[in-house]
Formats: sequence, structure tokens, C-alpha cells
Amino acid sequence: MSTISPERQDHKYLWHPFTQMRDWLKTEPIVLTKGKGSILWDNKGREFLDANSSIWTNLHGHNHPKINRAINDQLKKVSHVSALGFSNVPASKLGEQLVRLANPKKLLNKSQPRLEKVFFSDDGSTSIEVAIKLSYEFAKRTGASRKPRFLSLEGAYHGDTVGAVSAGHIDLFHKAYSGLLFKTDKVISPYCYRCPFNKAAPERADARSYRNCNMECATQVEQKFEQRKKKGGSYAAFLVEPGMQGPAGLIAQPKNWLSKVTDIARNHNAQIIADEVMTGLGRASKQIFASHSDKVQPDYLCIAKGLSGGYLPMAATITTQKVFDAFLGDYSEFKTFFHGHSFTGNPLGAAASLASIELLESKKGQRIQLAKNIKEYSKKLWELETVGDMRQSGCVLGIELVRNWKTKEPFNLTEQAGIRVCAGLAKKGILTRPIGNVIVVMPPYCTTKAQIKKIFSTLHEIIDEIL
Ligand SMILES: Cc1ncc(COP(=O)(O)O)c(C=O)c1O
Repeated sequence: MSTISPERQDHKYLWHPFTQMRDWLKTEPIVLTKGKGSILWDNKGREFLDANSSIWTNLHGHNHPKINRAINDQLKKVSHVSALGFSNVPASKLGEQLVRLANPKKLLNKSQPRLEKVFFSDDGSTSIEVAIKLSYEFAKRTGASRKPRFLSLEGAYHGDTVGAVSAGHIDLFHKAYSGLLFKTDKVISPYCYRCPFNKAAPERADARSYRNCNMECATQVEQKFEQRKKKGGSYAAFLVEPGMQGPAGLIAQPKNWLSKVTDIARNHNAQIIADEVMTGLGRASKQIFASHSDKVQPDYLCIAKGLSGGYLPMAATITTQKVFDAFLGDYSEFKTFFHGHSFTGNPLGAAASLASIELLESKKGQRIQLAKNIKEYSKKLWELETVGDMRQSGCVLGIELVRNWKTKEPFNLTEQAGIRVCAGLAKKGILTRPIGNVIVVMPPYCTTKAQIKKIFSTLHEIIDEIL
């Protein structure tokens, strides 16, 4: 057994994701050892509020007795069996539940696609990878496109596997790998605060509420489809995050944008891939899936992060019978979807997911109240000169920091405004991670009013002090 401390062990052996390791090695890591509800403790006994739900995964709090019990019960039966050639009970039950949740009768009409088939994978990236491959093959097999291409949004991030990176448009992350990627197109994101078409002067409110435009962002989508058609091509699918683009900087969409662009894509015979990896399972809308808030039913619904309540890596791509049927045939036709992962349909992950879904439905009031509390207590941040925009969707809030709200001048990334604010918050017992100059507030649904009050009063103090 090693005698060195966990901090030293980390520094000696680990390489962290999206982390400049030179900086990491200069500071002592926070070693988290325990959790309960929205609270995490480190190995020194310090207490923290988990204000970004452990990178947007945790829904109902840490160490939840119901999810713990579900995993423990399943552990006593079997931890893992292969979905290649075999079935297991929790995965099939979860499939049934996901199909039920993905087709809310009250919100959708009969002419919209029904999502009927669930393909499990491991994480957000792989759920997107599955959708891209299915859509590509579907477009070819049905004759919708001979050379299927994908359209996604400026600033998009859909994961780190090669297909997901190809559909991403964040130069900082993706440019270095351009030689490895396939070509996709991008179109303007509905980013009201920094939209070149929005003629409104900044106000002390979410830019969506005072925008002055003709929703040119949707017109540009139409133009993009037309341009592609003129060149003799087409798109297999438009890949979007419904309601709010998360990793692009928590960019919340104006109402009806999603339904407008969905109509445009469908009129051009393209499918919709909804990346609900962040927004899904009640996170970014009143509904379980953000697509349904705008009465949109995608052709592929990709979910991950919160699926297992944030306990275990578990993801799903839910799609239509029509897509499923395109892969049916005699064995010798080789129409099989040749794709899968060793842990596809993992029983422990599925058991945790089933328990999490029960909580999601039985405790809906909790997340509705959380969204209200975030709205109420974040208001005071408008007093600060360096708060440019605040965008809330359901239980997610993005706070965009600027040099001065009147000019909207951004901080240079090298100034690390977001990183410095989050480091200040951590010293005061609040954990979150910025996206550039945007501070993320996305706590578990069980976070209390008092905890929310604390998050925002500390944020006020720290932003004021540091910027
Ligand atoms: C919207 C969105 N899509 C996809 C992903 C990739 O998910 P994962 O990190 O689980 O592969 C992320 C991760 O942050 C995400 O936020």
C-alpha cells in the first residue's frame, strides 16, 4: 500500500480532463471523499456546496438512499452482463420507461414522430456518436442523401469522440484535430446577448427579454439549407441542444426558435438530433425533455449525464421505428447496426436510472421550486457592473461576466475571469466550473432555498471582490 497522500498520488499519476496540468500541479487538489444531498466534503473535512452537480450529472443529490438501494439490490444479483447476445431485466425496464417519457401525449400531436427504440451507450459523446451514425446511414439507405452531411450550431460542443467533435464548433477544443474530422457545417446560434442582428442596447435583464430583431438566426438556418440544396447536397440531420446550448456558454434560446428551425429542417427532409445530454431529465425546462417545451419531437433524443441520477456512466439514444426498420433485413444483407460498447445496457446503471426516474417524477415540485429560487436570488447580481447577461433555463443559470455591462466588452480568456471567480468561490465552500467568462450555476434538484441564497450571496461578494 502506498504511503503518500492522495494529493501527491494525484499529482504523481493522474492527467485531468480539460485541465492545464502545469497549473494543476502548482495547486493542491481538493480531494472529495464524501457527499450527501448537495453537500460534498473533502479529505480535510471541509464542506462544499456542489453548485454544478459534479459536471452537470447529479440530479437528486449525492448518496441518495433510493438510488443507493437500487444499486445495492442489483449488486446482489449481477453487476454486468453483455448486451451483445443477451438481455437483462433493468435495461429492458429502463427502455420501457424511456419510451414512455419520450412520448408525452399532452405535449405532442399525432403527426409528430414517436420515439420507440432505445440504444444504450456509456456517455454523452457516445450517445451522439450513435445518433450521427444512425442518421448518416438512414439518409443513405432511404435515398434522402447520397453524401449525408450534418448541420450544427456555432459554438456547439457535443462530446469528445471523433464524430461528436466533427459536429462541434469550438475552435479552442477542436481545431487541433481538424485533420481527423469529417466536414460539417455551422449556422449562427440564437445567442441574443451577442447577436449581430439584435439592435437593442443592453439592459439589466436576460437579453432574450429585450431583444430587438426579426429572429434572423432562424432565417439563417433556412438560408443554410437552401445553400446546400443549390449545391446539389442535403443535410442528413440538424444537430441541436434544445432550449439551451450548454458547453457553448449556457446560451438560452428565445421561445419558438427550436420549433421554427425544426420545421425548416423537416421541410428540407432532414432529421433532428436533439442533444439533451445537459438539458434532459428536467434540468433545463419544466418538462422532462427540453425539446417538448417547444413542442418539438426530434428523430433522435440523446441523453446521458443525469440519466443514472449522475451515479454511473449510462447513456441512451432514443429513436423512431422508421430508423430502426431501416436496419432490418436478412442477416446476409448486413444491414445490422455494427456499433456497440462493452458496457451497453449495464444493469447497475440501468437500476440507478430507474430509481432516478422515479424520483424525477415523484419530486417534480422540488425542481420547479429550485428554478424559482434561482430566479429570485440571482436577481441581486444585476447590481454588479461586471455581470453582462444572465440566462436561466429551468434549473440552469449562466452568468456572463464582462468588463462593463454597458459596453458588453468581454474579458480576454487569458485573464481567466471565470477561473478566478470559481477559485474564489471554492475558498468560500462553493464548487463550480466556468465556461470561459460564464459562471455556471446548476445545483442538484434537492438544493434548498438557504443553500441557493448562500450560492448567490457568495457569488455577489466574490465577483465584486475579484473583478
Ligand atoms: C450538451 C453536451 N453534449 C455532449 C456532451 C458530452 O458528454 P460526455 O462528457 O458524457 O461524453 C456534453 C458534456 O458536457 C454536453 O454538455
